Amino acid sequence: MWQYEKKLQYPVNIKNPNPKYAKIIISQYGGPDGELGASMRYLTQRYGTPYNEVKGLLTDIGTEELAHMEMVCAMVYQLTRNLTPEQIKAAGFDTYFVDHTASVYPIAASGLPWRAEYIQSKGDIIADLHEDMGAEQKARVTYDNLIRLIDDPDILDPLKFLRQREIVHYQRFGEALGITTDKLNSKNFYACNPNFDKGCGK
Ligand SMILES: [Fe+2]
Repeated sequence: MWQYEKKLQYPVNIKNPNPKYAKIIISQYGGPDGELGASMRYLTQRYGTPYNEVKGLLTDIGTEELAHMEMVCAMVYQLTRNLTPEQIKAAGFDTYFVDHTASVYPIAASGLPWRAEYIQSKGDIIADLHEDMGAEQKARVTYDNLIRLIDDPDILDPLKFLRQREIVHYQRFGEALGITTDKLNSKNFYACNPNFDKGCGK
């Protein structure tokens, strides 16, 4: 169950619309390393996770990624408000506009629509956590690239917040991998045969 709070995790207040920036920022909504895929990845993987601590972590981070998706969508929305046909054409936003008007639709910066393949859920906790750590680094690089290309401080401020959260998620998945390997190893430490192993069961 989720409870909806009517405020963004971090404020987005963009004064100047800029459809050129909207066209690249939208990749963090519907692109291969975007927030929609991240959220669905973790909220899907949690079902096959054998350890409650890791299951809880996947649920927490998957939920936070939904909040990040909301921030990215708010940025795209604010950047495409009240555009004239001239502004749309001048920014090269016409190719998006003709299909979606100013709706926030999940596509990559390249124009490729969001795909379920971005989720990745293997049903093996070691494979999934390695996938998740890689995914967080790729999301961090995408924010790095956006920060390199954008010069509006109203946009850079929330982008830097989102970039920082990817680093935190990467670290938390690293901790989850440590918890998981400890638990897997513990079976080897404590599995013993009382007929042969002295002190077994003590
Ligand atoms: Fe993340």
